Amino acid sequence: MKIIVAGTGYVGLVTAVCLSEVGHTVTCVDVNKEKIDMLSSGISPIFEPGLEELMKKNKYLLTFTLDSKNAYKNADVIFIGVGTPEKKDGSANLKYVYEVANEIAENIENNVIVVIKSTVPIGTNKKIERYIKSKLKNNVRVEVVSNPEFLSQGTAVRDTLHAQRIVLGVNSKQAENIMREVYDGFEIPYVITNRESAEMIKYASNDFLALKISYINEIANLCEIVGADVTDVAKGMGMDSRIGNKFLNAGIGYGGSCFPKDTKALHWLGNFYDYELKTIKAAIEINANQKLKLIKKARKYYETFENLTVAVLGLTFKPNTDDLREAPSLYNIPILLDDGANIKAYDPVGEKNFRKFYPNEIQYCKSLEETLKDADICFIFTEWEYVKNMDISLFSKLMNRPIVIDGRNCFELNKVKKENIVYESIGRSIINNINNN
Ligand code: UDX
Repeated sequence: MKIIVAGTGYVGLVTAVCLSEVGHTVTCVDVNKEKIDMLSSGISPIFEPGLEELMKKNKYLLTFTLDSKNAYKNADVIFIGVGTPEKKDGSANLKYVYEVANEIAENIENNVIVVIKSTVPIGTNKKIERYIKSKLKNNVRVEVVSNPEFLSQGTAVRDTLHAQRIVLGVNSKQAENIMREVYDGFEIPYVITNRESAEMIKYASNDFLALKISYINEIANLCEIVGADVTDVAKGMGMDSRIGNKFLNAGIGYGGSCFPKDTKALHWLGNFYDYELKTIKAAIEINANQKLKLIKKARKYYETFENLTVAVLGLTFKPNTDDLREAPSLYNIPILLDDGANIKAYDPVGEKNFRKFYPNEIQYCKSLEETLKDADICFIFTEWEYVKNMDISLFSKLMNRPIVIDGRNCFELNKVKKENIVYESIGRSIINNINNN
């Protein structure tokens, strides 16, 4: 079976590598020469634990090329895993999906199954099939299958190889059988449905998780007012198996490449059909406010951050990734800079990408100690292990004024209580062991 994957971002690359892991020969196509060169020499352009190792292990099964024409020519199955970024109005931009569809139509010489892995609005699979058929150069049979992915950055390989379900939106038994052959090596239960339902499963799942996060964040905000502790509340809720204990960590909101975009896209789609999804609207609004919560908390201690030394721990949208998309750091740091703060940041994995936005405006540190030294306040934006496991006495030992504003509830309050610091987190009581505040 000749399998092609178009797009070597998170979705495309991880899919391709995992398919090779179960024995398929896979050709990856991308328009970005730099990426193809890196991949061809065994280097992953994205930071994803375990991915490069699997690329190396299966290097004889994986090919990377810019030559889409030849790749598509005799393909049996073509996966589309290109990006569907957000447009200014919140809708999904399908430009790259259509570009690939066009190339497929022009170049295929075999009957082919086109599998859309990218997250696309409900109805897109059908439209793409119609589009390809209308542009076909050769008399071949094409069927489009919806096969959304549910991988999280940082655990993408595991999430793909040991997914909880394989969702297939198909229009024929023949397409279903071919897809079952593709996934033969995976021991994962199938959900076989029509294409619209498969597309909806992806949006509904992501948006439900985003909603769950916004819900616990609202509860956290109320906890702060009424004197409850959101970590205990989440624990108590999560022990109810109907609710589940995942995605109940309160914080400074969800970021990343999926939740922000997919909530807006589904909300947009609902409005397009004159049906407003009020729950999703609320999740979006709550998240926007939540991202700026730390600055509001910090303003209690400093009206302005002008000339203050501000320590920042964590830049990425979550740990174990170098991705900055919709990261709270990118919302908060501009505000601090605007105010005239001197920022010292520490995130060994996220630093490289952050430098693309701010090459000189902030000081990038090489250790926790260097970051905290003489700081007037410290913001925690990402719950990296090295933050959660750090020696918390460093705050009082090294900072000029040990005020810590933690957006990810990294430390247990019992431990913090013993320290001579001011500590504010999300949905928990404030600890203030410094007299002059
Ligand atoms: C998500 C989905 O989990 C995945 O299934 C989908 O395919 C793509 O989008 P990802 O964006 O990689 O994956 O990260 P995820 O771990 O889901 O976290 C998303 C955001 O939510 C992060 O900013 C994270 O910090 C935040 N989050 C998550 C919380 O604030 N609280 C939680 O309890 C969980």
